[in-house]
Amino acid sequence: MNNQKHPTKQKHELQVEELLSEMTIREKLGQCVMIEPCFCVAERVSEQFGESYTGTDDPEFLSMLLEKYHIGAFLFGGASQIGDGSAEAWASYIGRVTQHNQKTRLKIPMMYGIDAVHGVNFMKGSTIYTHNLALAATWNPTLTEQYAKTVGAELSALGFNINFAPTIDTARDVRWGRVYESLGEDPFLASQIAGALVKGMQSAGNLAGCAKHFIGYGESRNGMDRTQADLSDRVLLEMHAPPFEKAIEEGVLTMMVNGADVNGVPVPVSKKLLTGLLRDKLNFQGITLSDWEDVERLYSRHKVVTNRKESLVRSFNAGLDMNMAVCNIGAVDSMEEAVQEGLICEQRLDQAVRNILLTKFKLGLFDAKPVNISDAATRVGNAESKAIAKQLALESITLLKNENEILPLSKRSQSILITGQSAASKRHLCAGWTLGWASAKEEDLDCETVLDAIKSIVSADTSITFAATAEELKALKVSPSDFDVCISVISEEPHAEWVGDSMDLSLEQAEQDILQASIDTGIPVVMVSMIGRPLKMTWVDENVAALLWIYSPGTEGAASTAEILFGDANPSGKLPISFPKDGSQVPCVYNARSYQSDEIWTRYEPLYEFGFGLSYTHFTYSNLRVPNRVKVGENLEVIVTVTNSGQRAGDEIVQLYLRDQFATVSRPLKSLKAFSRVSLEPGSSETVTLTLTPADLSLYDEELNFVEEKRTIDVLVENLVSEFSIEGSYTKS
Ligand code: BGC
Repeated sequence: MNNQKHPTKQKHELQVEELLSEMTIREKLGQCVMIEPCFCVAERVSEQFGESYTGTDDPEFLSMLLEKYHIGAFLFGGASQIGDGSAEAWASYIGRVTQHNQKTRLKIPMMYGIDAVHGVNFMKGSTIYTHNLALAATWNPTLTEQYAKTVGAELSALGFNINFAPTIDTARDVRWGRVYESLGEDPFLASQIAGALVKGMQSAGNLAGCAKHFIGYGESRNGMDRTQADLSDRVLLEMHAPPFEKAIEEGVLTMMVNGADVNGVPVPVSKKLLTGLLRDKLNFQGITLSDWEDVERLYSRHKVVTNRKESLVRSFNAGLDMNMAVCNIGAVDSMEEAVQEGLICEQRLDQAVRNILLTKFKLGLFDAKPVNISDAATRVGNAESKAIAKQLALESITLLKNENEILPLSKRSQSILITGQSAASKRHLCAGWTLGWASAKEEDLDCETVLDAIKSIVSADTSITFAATAEELKALKVSPSDFDVCISVISEEPHAEWVGDSMDLSLEQAEQDILQASIDTGIPVVMVSMIGRPLKMTWVDENVAALLWIYSPGTEGAASTAEILFGDANPSGKLPISFPKDGSQVPCVYNARSYQSDEIWTRYEPLYEFGFGLSYTHFTYSNLRVPNRVKVGENLEVIVTVTNSGQRAGDEIVQLYLRDQFATVSRPLKSLKAFSRVSLEPGSSETVTLTLTPADLSLYDEELNFVEEKRTIDVLVENLVSEFSIEGSYTKS
C-alpha cells in the first residue's frame, strides 16, 4: 500500500494499534458484543445481575453495560422505541449514552445500529420509501444512490452510525417472506442497486452500511426463512456472491451473516465462507456481525456445539467479529474464560477488535461532535426526502397487463368504483419494518391513501364509490352500467421475516374475495397490487383488464399511483423478479441453468418474466451494433438505437443479455449484463452505448476459476440478436 496516497489510512491504523496495546482482554471482548438495551430492559435481564433497572437510560444500567462489560455497540430492533419515538427522544438518548461512555477508562466510542431499511422507518413523521424490491424495479442506480444518501444523512443526524441495510440477498424463491426486502432474483441487477445503496448511504463518511445476510439466505431448500440451503459453490459464486462483491467494492464497512446453514454448516461457524470466501477471496476488510441471537442459536437450534461457550468460541474462530448478542451480556464473561483457557487465541481476538476499531476511526467517531437535536428533528420527513420517495415509487411501479389500453383512465370519468380495504390503508402502503417490526399502527402514519390520491386527482364531477370488503360491495348491488371502471386495490398483511413465508403463493382469503366480487360486478377491473412480492396471479391475469404492481410504495406512493392510473405519469418499472404461473414452478428464475432444447422440460415459462413491464407508449429497437470479436482482457462496446414510436413521452429500460452459444460448463439461458434507463419524447430516438467489461464476459469454469473462456456469445437486446467471439488466451485466477 502506498502510504502517501492513503495518509489517513495509515494514521488510523497507527491509532488502532496504539489503542489496542492499552486494552485489557475484557475491554477487547466488550467491543465484540452488540447489545439491545430495550430488549434487555423488557426481558428483565437485570434480574440476572440481581439488580432492577428503571429503563434504558438508568445510569446503573448504563454503568453495568459500558463500565463493567465494556460493551462497544448497541442495536435497536425493529419493534424497539425510545421514549415517544420522536427524533428528539432518539437523538437525546444516543447523546446521553455517548456522554455516559465518557466515564469509561478508554472512552472508546459506541456504535449505534438500527434497521433503517426503507427510510428512517422507526420514527413517526419520517418519509417511508418503497422497499428494496421496488428499488430494483426502477433499474435506476442514480436515483437509488440519492435515496440512500438522504437516509444516511437523516440517520447520522440522529446519532446512528450503523444502518443494517442494504438487504442484498438474491431472492431465488418467491415463497420466502423477505422477498420484498430483497433486490430480486438477478445477481447483476441486484449488484448495481446494492452498489448504489452502499455508496449513497456511506457517502458522508459517518455512517456504516451493513450488507446482509451473507450468504445464501435468499435460496433456502424449501423457500422458508432461516431454513437450510443446499447450494453448490457454483451457485453461491454465480448467483449469491455478486451483490456482496459489489458492496465490498463500494467499501461497505459491515457485513451481517446469514444465521441459517448452508451446505450443512451454519454460516456463523463456517470458516470456509466467513474467512475463505469473504475475507480471502472477496477481500472484505470491515466488521462481520452475526444476525439477531444467531450465535446462541448455534447451540439452541443448530446443535453444532454442545454448550453456549463453545458457540461463542466457534463462531469467533471462524471469523465472526461481532456478536449481535441482544440480551446475552454474559457473552463477555464466557469469552473471557475461553481466552484464559486458550480456546480463542489473542491474535484472532486482536484481529476482530482491529476491524471494529478501524471502522470506528474511519467513521470519525473518536472526534464526533455531540448530536444536534434540532438538526435531527428538521431532517427527518423533509420535502427533499418526500420528493425522492415519490420519484422512486413512480419509477418502480410496473404495469403487467393493460388490455385494450384501458389505462390510463380519464380524470373525467363519470363514476369510479374503488374496492379493497387497502385502498384506504396507510400501513399497507408501507408494509413491514414500519414503526414496528411487522406493521405500523394505522393511526401512527400520516400520509395519503390510494383512495385519497384518486379522489384528489379526478375531476370534481367524478363520483367515487368505495367498498372495502366483499360484503360491502355485494350490499351495494351494483350493475355493470353504474360505473366506468372498478379499481381494486389488493394487498397482503404487512409482515417481517418468516411471518411472511408463503407455502402456496395464494392471495389472502379476504383479498381474493373482494377481487372476485369486483370481477363479478361485470365492470372492467383495474387491479392495483400492493403485494410486496409475486404471488400466484394466473387467475388474476385472466380476469382483470389491467394489473398495476405498485409494490409497497411508502408514504408518498399513493400520489404516484394515482398519477400513473390517470396518465400524469407513464409507468416504466420493469420486473426484478419472475412471476411463476403457480407454486409448482418454484423456483422460477430467468437465469437458471437450462437446456436450450424443446425436448426437455426445463423451459422458463413464467406468467410474467424478469425484465417485463408495459408502458403507455411503444419502444422499438434498431441497429444493434456488436463488434465481431473481442480480445481477452478488453472491453466490448454494444450500441443500439431505441425509438419511442408511440404517442406519449416515456422511459424505457434498455436491457442487454448475453447467451453463450457453447461453453465448457452449463450456462444460464441468458444473463443480464448491462442496462440503461432512457427518457424519450414521442417520435424521438436515442443511441445507447453499453460497455461490457472482461468480468462481464467471464464464467466460472469446471474448477471454479473465473475465466474469459474463448467462445461465441449472443447479444440479446429486446428482439434483436447479434454475436461476437472472444479471442486470445487467458490466465486462470
Ligand atoms: C433480521 C435482520 C435485522 C436484525 C436486527 C434480524 O431478525 O434478520 O435483518 O437486521 O434482526 O433488527
